[in-house]
Amino acid sequence: MSKQTDSFYNKFSFFYPLVDVFLKSQKKVLFAHINSLPDGHLLEIGVGNGSHFGLYKKHRVIGIDTSAAMLNAARKHCNERIQLLEMNGESLLFEDEKFDYVVLSHVIAVVDHPEQLLNQVWRVLKPHGQLFILNHFTPPNWLGYIDGAFQQVSKMLHFRSVFHIHQIAAIKNFTLLKHLNFGAASYFKLLIYQKR
Ligand SMILES: C[S@@+](CC[C@H](N)C(=O)[O-])C[C@H]1O[C@@H](n2cnc3c(N)ncnc32)[C@H](O)[C@@H]1O
Repeated sequence: MSKQTDSFYNKFSFFYPLVDVFLKSQKKVLFAHINSLPDGHLLEIGVGNGSHFGLYKKHRVIGIDTSAAMLNAARKHCNERIQLLEMNGESLLFEDEKFDYVVLSHVIAVVDHPEQLLNQVWRVLKPHGQLFILNHFTPPNWLGYIDGAFQQVSKMLHFRSVFHIHQIAAIKNFTLLKHLNFGAASYFKLLIYQKR
């Protein structure tokens, strides 16, 4: 992650609870899926302020983030099943095939190198391990124009408003298991993949 993005999230951690309010209902759906899966070792990349940690009901979780301020906020929501580390998702320090599940919630359009991130996710997932991506995805409808118009502003806010998952070559190393849309405009989605 670039120093600028890191410094942005360090400052932004104070306001993040406001953003969080809008993401709550999507996260409930994400965690309903996660909690229905067998026990296992789960990695969450870019945990943010950790306000969702209470939604993890059974898995052993390692949560990482590059922002020290976000991690400090996340520590307040921690419990005995969650371990937090300051680490970059684009260069994970874990051994190959360590995790059963990886969660990317509103992170893939934020990191500097999504290709590198997905390659790292593939490396640390066990064979047939599952990847959860919750994010906005630029749709092939009128919302795509809004994403385009918002591009410069989104750069300043350190995320990509225009985001197409099929443009990341490394996604081909995963099989799509489930595709869930949120809301009528289908702008936010939960995509569940399995490592090939
Ligand atoms: C938009 S917030 C999402 C937080 C949380 N996952 C959520 O859904 O509310 C993005 C988070 O990703 C972190 N982040 C950005 N780039 C990262 C990277 N390369 N590795 C790990 N975390 C990163 C930021 O510091 C920030 O906390």
